[in-house]
Amino acid sequence: MAEQSNEGKIRLLKQKLAGCDNVVALTGAGISAESGVPTFRGQGGLWRQYRATDLATPEAFARDSRLVWEFYNWRREVLAPLHPNPGHLALAAMESRFAHFTLITQNIDGLHQAAGSRKMIELHGNIWWVRCSGCEKVIEDRRVPLPELPTCGACGALLRPHVVWFGEMLDPNILELVSQAIEACQVMMVIGTSGVVQPAASMGATARRRGAFVAEINLEPTPYTGAYDLSILGKSGEVLPFLVASG
Ligand code: APR
Repeated sequence: MAEQSNEGKIRLLKQKLAGCDNVVALTGAGISAESGVPTFRGQGGLWRQYRATDLATPEAFARDSRLVWEFYNWRREVLAPLHPNPGHLALAAMESRFAHFTLITQNIDGLHQAAGSRKMIELHGNIWWVRCSGCEKVIEDRRVPLPELPTCGACGALLRPHVVWFGEMLDPNILELVSQAIEACQVMMVIGTSGVVQPAASMGATARRRGAFVAEINLEPTPYTGAYDLSILGKSGEVLPFLVASG
């Protein structure tokens, strides 16, 4: 049987969306690639250039917090001038079209919020927020660059990026919200993620086991592609606008 065309797959996903009122979208670095944000594992990806163990673990921060802050300051400088792309904007538009819509993102770049998304869960934190390593105070801080070793205004202790590093647990309250959203959704879209980092990587397969229709949108297949109902190969910034376009 001939492979369904991308147009046919997009039409099918649109039909599924039209027939439901509870939708979840899970995004990864791929949705921000067209805005100029480097991905992690793709060509020119961050973890191809740098060792995550030197820059994105609590051990690395304890060992050399100046180096870790240099890395996050650089990422903030790269991100500061960038804007959401049509993929982010399409998901923001979708939010008001369904009785229940939840955007779960692994991205820490803040571009979904900049696009107007509000019903969202940030699994891995946000690069524009900092957390005190002493009093645990969490505040938004958009200064670019931050001081080399930024300190807490309340207790004077060293601040750290309010992001989830390798080897750190995700917030259980956030995981509970995710589990409720996946439990109830009728359609889930898995967008621009390589499917190698848990727990996000297996969320689509969990939703499918719970009876949801799951579609993947990615430039290429991922380890979980076979577990989904649909795999649309293309740029999210080109595919997603079709899903919100009338007709
Ligand atoms: N449209 C759709 N998909 C794209 C696009 C695009 N324009 N550009 C790249 N992709 C796909 C790639 O094919 C790849 O499968 O996006 C995926 C990006 O994968 P990664 O770089 O591994 O990023 P991600 O899956 O978000 O990483 C997960 O790993 O490093 C940690 O905490 C970090 O949240 C991150 C997590």
